[in-house]
Amino acid sequence: MAKAPTRLIKVWDLPLRLTKWSFVGLVAAMWYTAENSLWYWHTRLGMVLFALLIFRIIWGFIGTRTARFRQFVRSPPAALAYLRGKETGFTIGHNPLGAFAVLALIAVMLAQVMMGLFAGDPYDGATGPLNSLVGVMTADTITDLHEDFLWVVLGMAGLHIIAVSIYTFIKRANLIGPMITGKREELGSVEGIEAVPWGRAAIAFAVSTGLALWIWLGAPPLT
Ligand code: HEM
Repeated sequence: MAKAPTRLIKVWDLPLRLTKWSFVGLVAAMWYTAENSLWYWHTRLGMVLFALLIFRIIWGFIGTRTARFRQFVRSPPAALAYLRGKETGFTIGHNPLGAFAVLALIAVMLAQVMMGLFAGDPYDGATGPLNSLVGVMTADTITDLHEDFLWVVLGMAGLHIIAVSIYTFIKRANLIGPMITGKREELGSVEGIEAVPWGRAAIAFAVSTGLALWIWLGAPPLT
């Protein structure tokens, strides 16, 4: 007898998937541009990364169900219970353990980007857009930290890749496919996510790009 076609449900919205894969490409680009002293691109792509991070944070409050921090961030005991295979009520979206990875990745990328805004030496080489707001010595310390913190960013990304690989190859869970298509096989009677609220996405986009542009211009007074 022919197998009934599998019904697919929507689990990740398009803005979330676009920002997620852009983070992957942009962190690699930031590394490459820094290693090759391509400062023109390093600072500009860095501002795109900044805008996307702000977008993702806003989306974590006003996005669809699986994008919202309130929906997926659980307590450490709940994450441990999930790790031990206990029932935690988790259905679709980030699992309680993945939630910590998401928060940690956003936090380390944001910290690195914030340091980049002040980094550099005005007398020798490139500078971030807010470099002139701090003294040369402070900027120097921030630049050293920014250089070393790269390993924290890459370390977190590496841990995340290892965790996803364990789920993919050992636990045979398909995490990557749904993160590309947005869909997964149906799961009992669990409903997929709602349609993307594009009006709210436009507001989040306008706020995040506006903020990035303002900082790029050196955060001039608004009055
Ligand atoms: C995830 C994001 C980022 C990563 C991984 C990253 C990585 C790095 C690394 C490794 C260096 C040191 C390169 C070296 O001297 O050998 C560096 C320097 C620098 N970065 Fe970033 N960066 C990021 C974001 C940013 C942002 C958002 C800005 C500003 C818009 C920025 C501005 C700078 C500047 C001005 C320098 C110093 C350039 C110089 O020494 O002349 N970075 N970055």
